[in-house]
Amino acid sequence: MDFDEIVNRNTPEDIKYSDIKGISDLIPMWVADMDFRSPVEVRKVLSDISTRGIFGYSEADPSYDKALVDWFKRRYDVEIDPGTVLKLPGVVLGISLSVRALTEPGDSILIFEPLYGPIAKCIKGNGRKLVISDLVRTGSRYEIDFEGMQRKIKDNNVKMLVLCNPHNPVGRVWTREELLKIGDICLENDMVIVSDEIHADFVYAGHKHIPVASLSDDLRKITVTCTSPTKTFNLAGIQAANIIIADDSMRRAVDRLSLVTGAYGLNVMGIAATRAAYTYGEVWLDELLEYLSGNITLVRNRLKDTKLKVTDIEGTYLMWIDASELCVSDPAEFFLDKAHVRLSEGGFFGNSGKDFIRMNVACPKSVVNEALDRILAVPGVK
Ligand SMILES: Cc1ncc(COP(=O)(O)O)c(C=O)c1O
Repeated sequence: MDFDEIVNRNTPEDIKYSDIKGISDLIPMWVADMDFRSPVEVRKVLSDISTRGIFGYSEADPSYDKALVDWFKRRYDVEIDPGTVLKLPGVVLGISLSVRALTEPGDSILIFEPLYGPIAKCIKGNGRKLVISDLVRTGSRYEIDFEGMQRKIKDNNVKMLVLCNPHNPVGRVWTREELLKIGDICLENDMVIVSDEIHADFVYAGHKHIPVASLSDDLRKITVTCTSPTKTFNLAGIQAANIIIADDSMRRAVDRLSLVTGAYGLNVMGIAATRAAYTYGEVWLDELLEYLSGNITLVRNRLKDTKLKVTDIEGTYLMWIDASELCVSDPAEFFLDKAHVRLSEGGFFGNSGKDFIRMNVACPKSVVNEALDRILAVPGVK
């Protein structure tokens, strides 16, 4: 796979590239998809469907289930019962349905911030009370404030935790010890865990993704695990997610709600792409991880000794950068204006993120270098 290839994404429907704000030489490093082509086997099955020209109603079949089950066994040593998997057109949808089906209006739901913004919106928009436990920054790394978390759970009678593992945007891959501690707290307080594991496949050397539901039978029974091949294989526009809910009554509740809202199932492209990706995509993914790891090192090295402080990254391809030393009110807007590089605004991830920028490094190395050249040329950055 040639990850150095520049692929033209300039189509009117492409969010990352079409929303260029009138700047013709803009480098987009914001929304979380990649500038790499999906594995060739995925492209082949999609092209075959397109050539056949039939796009009828479709349903995942046993060969789909086998590809999914084998992937989780091979990559995470986890046994998934395909009967416990709800297929939905997105992870955020899975979170939203779980919030609505498994809590009551007015119930409190806890998140760790900074966090991928749509999750807080989904909790508040569904009429639940958002309880924020701020992650604690120690040097260039984030940790969970377990005491604060417990206090907030008790004070607000919290019913659910929406966990993100690996955590977007701070790049942590939660350890077994941390997950067990989180799990114990949730079990003690009769809480449900919704674990957003969409970034699970992006974990770098020295770290291991552990699905929280895999840690014990008790945790499996209280957890909704949200997984998807769309980040891993760059299929976000195809919209596919596998939501694993072991507990029968919880799963039935979420399934019922998905049926009555009409938001359920996968489309013909989603089924074929997921099956092909999980069956044939492993070598591609391993090469990709090496490439991304190189990009991460490049950013870290070139921003060392500047006013941009890079957070350690254990997982995801999203780098969380403290720009507070620049003393500008909106660092993302600043770099858009001065360097024509579009980064995600830290405020999108909660109040604690407002002096930060998030840089998506899933693009060819030459693009990362060009973006860094421009950023480093901005007066005041060095
Ligand atoms: C943590 C996290 N969850 C969910 C999503 C979106 O998932 P989906 O497109 O399947 O709704 C993203 C996309 O960036 C994400 O980073």
